[in-house]
Amino acid sequence: MHLFLDTANIEQIRHAAKLGVISGVTTNPSLLSLEGRSDYKAVILEICSIVSGPVSAEVLSHEVGSMIEEAREISSWSPQVVIKIPITPFGLEAISILSKENIKINLTLCFSVNQALLGVLAGATYVSPFVGRLDDIGHNGMELVAEIVQIFAHYNFSTQVIAASIRHPLHCVAAAKAGAHIATVPYKVLMEMTSHPLTTAGIARFREDWSGISQEAKQEK
Ligand code: G3P
Repeated sequence: MHLFLDTANIEQIRHAAKLGVISGVTTNPSLLSLEGRSDYKAVILEICSIVSGPVSAEVLSHEVGSMIEEAREISSWSPQVVIKIPITPFGLEAISILSKENIKINLTLCFSVNQALLGVLAGATYVSPFVGRLDDIGHNGMELVAEIVQIFAHYNFSTQVIAASIRHPLHCVAAAKAGAHIATVPYKVLMEMTSHPLTTAGIARFREDWSGISQEAKQEK
């Protein structure tokens, strides 16, 4: 399973990239708005300069013609760019045209198996089931990921499943168990994944023991 970082924050992306564990980035209008930057193209290009993998950037239009125009423009910014398009009838129409132009699409705001299937049939490269938002309304988001993965494998679809709307480290474990190709995680979750109280305690203990023995060695000299 690959990990993408779900953020538009440049510092977070720089740090995660240094760790060598993320192979792409996903953004959305809400994440971009958190950064208070209106220079959409500049932000996306800056992200592309930090990571070498796919960078998802979402269209803001809702009508098919302007969606296609916007997607063509955004995808011309960098070969790394993947266009995020919400699953709607207009979205599917746009995906079916754009995918024939070899523009990579990440079907976003996916909340059902049928939506995922339609995304594949229209030509999406990725589908993003939103796990946390389903959990929020009392559904099992990870069950949806598992069902989509199973059906895609059954038919040998090449479309990859991105477990999105990840809220905590256990979501990541569950996404891996479900066979998701990718989990896109917020920076906070990535940092939580690195830590374990026994690792922290173990490091402190090793340091303490070593400093005891090196003190003794100094005293003996
Ligand atoms: O990138 C889209 C998705 O991950 C959003 O997550 O936490 O806003 O539901 P969230």
